Amino acid sequence: MPNIGIIGLQWGDEGKGKVIDLLSKDADIVVRYQGGANAGHTIVVQGEKIILHLVPSGILHESKYCVIGNGVVLDPVVLEKEISELKAKGFIKDDKKFMVSGLAHLIMPYHKKLDILRESKGKKRIGTTGRGIGPAYEDKASRMGIRVIDLMDPDVFKEKIKQNLEIKNFIIEKYYGDQGFKAQDIIKQYVPFRKLLKKYIADTADFLHKSIEEHKKILFEGAQGTFLDIDHGTYPYVTSSNTVAGNIASGSGVPPNCIDSVLGICKAYTTRVGEGPFPTELKDEIGDRIREVGREYGSTTGRPRRCGWFDAVTVKRAIKLNGINGLCLMKLDVFDNFKKIFICTGYELNGKKYDIPPMSSYELSKCNPILEEMPGWKGSVIGIDEYKKLPPNAKKYIARLEELLGVRIDIISTGPDRDSTIVLKKPF
Ligand code: GDP
Ligand code: IMO
Ligand code: MG
Repeated sequence: MPNIGIIGLQWGDEGKGKVIDLLSKDADIVVRYQGGANAGHTIVVQGEKIILHLVPSGILHESKYCVIGNGVVLDPVVLEKEISELKAKGFIKDDKKFMVSGLAHLIMPYHKKLDILRESKGKKRIGTTGRGIGPAYEDKASRMGIRVIDLMDPDVFKEKIKQNLEIKNFIIEKYYGDQGFKAQDIIKQYVPFRKLLKKYIADTADFLHKSIEEHKKILFEGAQGTFLDIDHGTYPYVTSSNTVAGNIASGSGVPPNCIDSVLGICKAYTTRVGEGPFPTELKDEIGDRIREVGREYGSTTGRPRRCGWFDAVTVKRAIKLNGINGLCLMKLDVFDNFKKIFICTGYELNGKKYDIPPMSSYELSKCNPILEEMPGWKGSVIGIDEYKKLPPNAKKYIARLEELLGVRIDIISTGPDRDSTIVLKKPF
């Protein structure tokens, strides 16, 4: 299986960063293909924590190529900071191994401002990360966007900024009553990024095509999660890109028949940040306990994550949407010493039962979870790296999830560190 997609099956923060870092050892290339700095992917190596927002999570392995594909919306401010922090720690020794697609769209200062203004002054909050993601993808769709390649040509860049500011300043000033932007200020801020990006800009699709011909192993690093997908998620409480595996192809320029398998990442429970329906949410002391034990605070914004039981209805749907070949079950250790654990096996609404989520997000927000009780395990699974060492009730929980989901769990994670992992089947 040379080319593998890694996809979050819930509402993001499933532990994709840890899995990518783990599998990068056996890969040649790691590619981000959608989203932007709204992502926060955490890697823990021997107790040291690194959070990546834009740079692919393969970067800690020196010999690997890391690629930011055309489908990403790239904030050069974040990228510059991330690169300099990684370099200070001794990573990115060879600039030739890091590439940014010239076709990726740039996040501009007005995107971030509009995102924040909408969230603070609009009537309906989405609970975005405030990273300008929605406004940047809107510009891409309306053909107003500015791409990395446009930044390389001073005249084109200047012209596009002027064109954009006519409209953006009108909205910021007249609709929101806030202060607009001056073209020369943005140009002054962005010109130094030209020098930075010149080092990394590439026709990344061409690089990937050639790598495929050479039988290189590629990991596609999904950001966000299936139910934050703009089409298949809990709209409008979603992000502005397609997060499902189907977008690996368009977001990187690799044809669909070159993606050999897709690994789905899910936690032993569910979390979500921001607004929107969440049928198994626990707004009580059990939810608080999961949050505290699992340290469920956003890697990007620090916001407390909403927590709840494992939802087999949504995860089953995610398995279908993404064509999942194998699962990674993360954060099993968080349930250490829980007396009882529950799994949601269906929903109920007005006497009707659902085994797939209703199409309407409003209806989903009203659904009651049908819960199945499982016994907890006494003792700790933290750091266990062999299946046989798991307590019997932890094995029962895993087996029941596999039965409900109909897909094998290939990797079980028992702690944040690289080594706290049980690998039952190697994906490569
Ligand atoms: P991502 O966005 O999918 O990469 O996930 P995040 O990094 O936002 O959130 C996952 C969090 O869980 C991070 O803080 C990880 O270090 C942590 N983590 C990952 N796997 C495990 C695990 O098995 N157990 C525990 N306790 N923490 C884990
Ligand atoms: P990773 O890759 C969790 C959520 C936001 C908000 C919604 C829209 O770390 O799993 P946006 O800023 O994208 O317009 O916000 O999506 N969101 C995430 N939640 N993990 C993420 O990424 C997220 N990226 C966006 O909280 O609800
Ligand atoms: Mg995250």
